[in-house]
Order: sequence, then structure tokens, then C-alpha cells
Amino acid sequence: MADIHQVNDLVSIERQGDIALVCIDNPPVNATGQQVREGLQQAIERLNAEGTAGVIAIHAAGRTFVAGADIREFGKPPQPPALPDVFNVIEDSEIPVIAVMHGTALGGGFELGLATHARVGIEGLRVGLPEINLGLLPGAGGTQRVPRLAGIPMALDMALSGRMVGAKEALEKGLIDRLETGDPREVALKAAQDVLNGTLATRRTCDLDTPKDDAALDDTAAMLKKKQAHLFSPHKIVEAVRASYLPRAEGLKVERQAFIDSMDTPQRAGMIHAFFGERAVSNIPEAKGDTRPLDRVGVIGGGTMGSGIATSCLLAGIPVTLVEVAQDGLDRGVATITKNIDGAVSRGKLPADKRDAVLGMLSPSLEMEALADVDLVIEAVFEQMDVKKEIFTKLDAICRDGAILASNTSYLDVNEIAACTARPQDVLGLHFFSPAHVMRLLEIVQGEKTAADVLATGFALAKKLKKVGVLAQVCDGFIGNRILAHYGKTASYLVLDGASPQQVDDALEGFGFAMGPHKVGDLAGLDIGWMTRKRKAATRDPDERYAGDVADRICENGWFGRKTGKGYYLYDSGAPVPNPEVAKIIDDVRSDKGISPRDFTDQEIVDRYMTAMISEAARVVGDGTAKRPVDVDMVFLFGYGFPRFRGGPLHYADTIGAGELVARIETYAKEDPHYWQVPPILKKMAQDGGKFADLN
Ligand code: CAA
Repeated sequence: MADIHQVNDLVSIERQGDIALVCIDNPPVNATGQQVREGLQQAIERLNAEGTAGVIAIHAAGRTFVAGADIREFGKPPQPPALPDVFNVIEDSEIPVIAVMHGTALGGGFELGLATHARVGIEGLRVGLPEINLGLLPGAGGTQRVPRLAGIPMALDMALSGRMVGAKEALEKGLIDRLETGDPREVALKAAQDVLNGTLATRRTCDLDTPKDDAALDDTAAMLKKKQAHLFSPHKIVEAVRASYLPRAEGLKVERQAFIDSMDTPQRAGMIHAFFGERAVSNIPEAKGDTRPLDRVGVIGGGTMGSGIATSCLLAGIPVTLVEVAQDGLDRGVATITKNIDGAVSRGKLPADKRDAVLGMLSPSLEMEALADVDLVIEAVFEQMDVKKEIFTKLDAICRDGAILASNTSYLDVNEIAACTARPQDVLGLHFFSPAHVMRLLEIVQGEKTAADVLATGFALAKKLKKVGVLAQVCDGFIGNRILAHYGKTASYLVLDGASPQQVDDALEGFGFAMGPHKVGDLAGLDIGWMTRKRKAATRDPDERYAGDVADRICENGWFGRKTGKGYYLYDSGAPVPNPEVAKIIDDVRSDKGISPRDFTDQEIVDRYMTAMISEAARVVGDGTAKRPVDVDMVFLFGYGFPRFRGGPLHYADTIGAGELVARIETYAKEDPHYWQVPPILKKMAQDGGKFADLN
């Protein structure tokens, strides 16, 4: 009978002679919630008080060592014992303590290892300090112990990038002492014996001094001031790592204060919303249940989108049949896919020796009949309903029974497409975002007749492709493009009324967008919006203020943005410079329309832009196009470059409050009552004191 004693439900001690194995068993990822902290502290204190063990080895059950603090506890009143105190108890233990880590030892989990007296990694281990992705910093000694073991540059790199460090690198850098293979408990037993027989050395990390490197600290602080002034925790990370020159107690005090200050910021709340939101989008009944096979995918169209989709499937190990109508189009598609795959190799996303095998899974064809046996077809041809209908009619005749037929349309009616087949239950929309092998968003569009297992297969595909699948209902533009079509007009109205395109871009970049809307337009190609405006001209709402005057005139000059070297900006010398001829166009449009320009503050620009975005996002939730506010938020984070630290448009809306948003809309409506209308859902929230978070 093994001598196992439960300290509490989640932590146990197993005695094997002089060895004490302490096991953490808190599925799914062994997070250090209150019970784990308490159990660990009690285990170490008890073993020290008994004094009968010669060594203590901590290991964890299940798929991974400890993945960090329990994120669900953040924002709630802290429950003792605090993690840094538990780790000090471990570090101060008279009996040597070692950690045996497998899977992913992240944040507080890695910091647990750092506080022990020797670390053994199991092959495949990855360690990291990902707290920065949650708006935080390592708060349980990571900023104090990593620099002591691996130096300041490594500590800054890990804490500021949040990247996972592989076992080999961790060993080279001195973050772990040994790399083994095998079952964590068995490895723990063996390593503990080695401590007893003197072949595995132990020492307290905080007995070491951090090697001085003021230059690394100063350079990083200066770089962050320039590049990440709007973020809170990165600057605190440098401060805390600098404090690792101090004795343990003083350094940990600086780290603790920085951690508490970060915890109090809205950035932390936004990023934690993003963490759980990414997982919540597929935590719905529609994403679960039986799925259909996904062993071979067909892609129709070798343009940018089709090639990106094919690349994404190939990188996920799914063989692809690519169909184009003409040889030159097919050749272009194959060339783009090859370029994409080579790019993945050079970015380190695909091992070079796998390149040829991945490309070998691509079968190009000029015949639709080549799709007879595929499990899923994704049509990615241009946005014209009659062309799509012709393709789906053919697919219906060619594809095997049960094959799923998907359209990558970005706004067309999926029900109308489905209706031209005899199998509307097998049809859905799979809306990828360009570049499709890079962007993580996938809108999964449910048609009226889409079968449950077809929808669930859409989510299974998203998972395979490592994308964030979000359920959307049919409407013009689905979730993202419908909202974009609405708030995009605000940027144009702001320019018509007095702001410059550069001021609008700068204000929104200051808010946190990677690029302002005019720079995005230049990048995507201004001709795309121009074509859409021309196509929709006949059906334009006569009461709506036209937003396209300036952009139309820019396009009439043949200036389509980056690809022509000229758009809102000039791109001759690399960095974009405002195009002076656009300023002239704006002046002309204003005088033609009798507009007297006025000044806008950057705050006003952000307020109007965000209020427009939130308004349409609220309508999208109100009419059920998106299931919940969190779905809209994730669409924007993963498809539209919305700043992650703001959590998404509707998370951000809650930080402003429905009352204030309604008041803003009513004020703006005095100028343009057609565009600025209070969404019913927002009005109700303002009356009841509700929040979007209540609807998640
Ligand atoms: N706390 C609470 N729950 C967590 C968690 C954590 N630290 N990490 C993961 N989970 C939950 C997820 O929400 C998910 O729950 P559901 O099944 O209910 O959706 C479940 O565990 C499984 O997670 P994943 O779906 O992400 O599983 P995966 O195998 O794809 O990835 C992982 C595993 C790499 C550990 C990933 O979950 C991850 O990156 N977790 C976060 C790690 C992290 O940020 N740690 C730092 C925490 S902050 C900290 O530690 C502060 C400090 O210094 C004291």
C-alpha cells in the first residue's frame, strides 16, 4: 500500500522512505487556486516540522504541470495565503525541495519551480511568464528569480514577450537543471533519489545575485516609453526586474506592489476578458456534438483568399484540392500557396524539413469533378451572387452525399446560396479574414437550414486551423463587416467636418489600434471600397449622409493606397507621409458641400468612432446576428486589430456605461438623426443599469 496522505482535496503527500512526493491534482491545468496554495504551504511546513524526509519533490497530475495562478480569482478579494508567501516557504525549506515539471509551466506555475532548489523538466516542457498577455506581470517572484538564474536580458525577454521557452533553451539558460523523459511521478522519484545521493545539486535561487546589466534595463525602458507608452504593465516589469538587484524581501515588495497596481487597471480586466472570451466563443451547444470528417478539403479559387485558406488547411495537415477555371489562375494560386508556406518556414512556423511534404498535400486541378470525394468545399471566388449560385449548383451535382459546401462570402446571403442546392442542410458560410493563413478569426455563418453537425464541423475546422471560430447569423456583412460598414462612415464624416485623415488615424492609434482607418484603407486598397460604393449606389438610402466623397475622388485619380504608392498617404520613402493632394481634395469637397470645418479634439474623435462602433455592435447583439456580446468582442480582437487590452467593443462599452453612451448618441443625433440612433438594447440598459457583460 502506498503511503499517501491528502493534505486537502488538491494536494497530497506520498512517502517513499526518505522521499516525500508532493502532488498537485487540480484539473484541467493545475492552477494555483486558494486550495492549492494552502495545500502546498501546509505540505512543506508539515514535512519540515516532522523532519523525517530527506528531500521533497513536487510534481503535478494530468496533462500539465501548473499553468499559473487561477485567473478566475483575479479581480476578486485575495484569499490567503498569497502565492509569493507560499513560494518563500518553499525556498526557505530546510529540507531540499525540487520541482518536476511537464507540459506547460506558466506564470505562477513556473514561479513555483523557480522557488524550489532544483528543477527537472520532462521532454516537451515549455516554461513561460505570460502574465503580460493578461495585463499583468509575474507576481510570485518571476521578476526576481529569473534574472538570478538566467540574467536580466532573458528575464526581460520572457516577461515582456510572454513567449513560451522550450525545454532545451530553458536548460541552456539555466532555468532548469535537467531534462528527462518519462512519467512525472517516476521522474520525481528518481530525481529525489539523486538529491539524496548527491548527484543532483540543490541551491536557493535567491541566494544568487542578479548579474548587473543596467544597459539592458535602461535600453528596454527607453524602448517601451517610445513604443508602448499606452500600456501599463510592461513598464512595471522593467521596474520589478531592476529590483532583483536588491535582497529578496525588498525585491519581492517592489514586484508585489507593481502586480497589485497592474491588477487594478482596466487593461487587466480587458485582457482577461480576451483570454476567457477566446475560449467562450466555442463553448456553446452549436459548437459541440457530432461532427463530419475533415480529411480532405476542396478550395475553389486561387486568389488571395482561396490561397490563404488552402495554406491554412495545409499547415494544419489537411490535404487540399485547389480548383481554378484557367491554367494561369491555377498557377498563380499554387505560386501564392508556395510563397505562403515558404513564409511559414522562414517565420519558424513550419520546420524546413516539412515544407515539401506539406506542399505535397496540395492537388491543383482545373476540373470541379476533382472535388467529388472531398469532405468539405470552401468556395472563395469573387463576390457575385450569380457566380456563386452557378458554382453551388455544380457542387451539388458533383460532391458526394454528406460533403459540406461552404462559401467564404463576406456579406452575401448564405440562404440564397444554399437554396440553389438540393442539400441546404449541408451549406454554411465560413468567412475567413485576409491573410487567411495568418488572421485567426473565422466567422461561422449559420444558414436557416444548416444541420447541427455541419455547424459543429465548422467549429471543429476552426480548432484544427488554430482559429477562433465565432457563430454568426446571416445578414449583410455578418458580425464584423456589418459593424465596420457602419462605424467606418464616422471616420469619413470626421474628415468632412474638419479633422484630417492623419489626425483621425493618430487619435485612434493613441486609443490602441495598430493602424488608423485611413492607413488600413491604403493597405487594403481603396479601390475595394470604391467598387462596393459604386455597386450599392443604386440602392443607397437617400436619407443617409454620403460618406464616400473624399475617397471617391482619391480613387478617381487612380490612387488606391500602398499598391499604387499613393492614397491618403504617400509611400515613396517607406513610412507613410500625408498626401498633400488629398488635403486639397478635402478642401474642395467641403466647399462644394458648404461645410465650414471645425476643430475636433483627439478625445472627440475616439468618442464618436467608438460610439458608432458600439451602436452597431449593440444592434448586432440585439437582433441575434451575434449570440452574445463576447462573440462581437472576439470578432474585433481577432479579425479587426481591436486593442486587446480594451477587451473588445462591448467590453469597452461597459467601462463607459450605457447611460453615457445614450447621452452621446443623443447629442450627436442633433447633427445627424439618421445616422445616430440609440439601439433599443442600449436604451434598456441605460434605464435598468444593465451591462453587456450580463448578456454573456
Ligand atoms: N486559471 C484558470 N483557468 C485556466 C487557466 C488559469 N491559469 N489556464 C487555463 N484555464 C482553463 C481554461 O479557461 C480552460 O477552461 P474551459 O475548459 O472551461 O474553457 C481550461 O483551463 C483549458 O485551457 P485551454 O483550453 O487553454 O487548454 P490548452 O491545453 O489549449 O492550453 C494552457 C493550456 C497553455 C495552459 C493555456 O490554458 C494557457 O495559456 N493558460 C493561461 C496560462 C497563464 O496565463 N498563466 C499565468 C496566469 S497569471 C499568474 O500566474 C500570475 C502570477 O504570476 C501569480
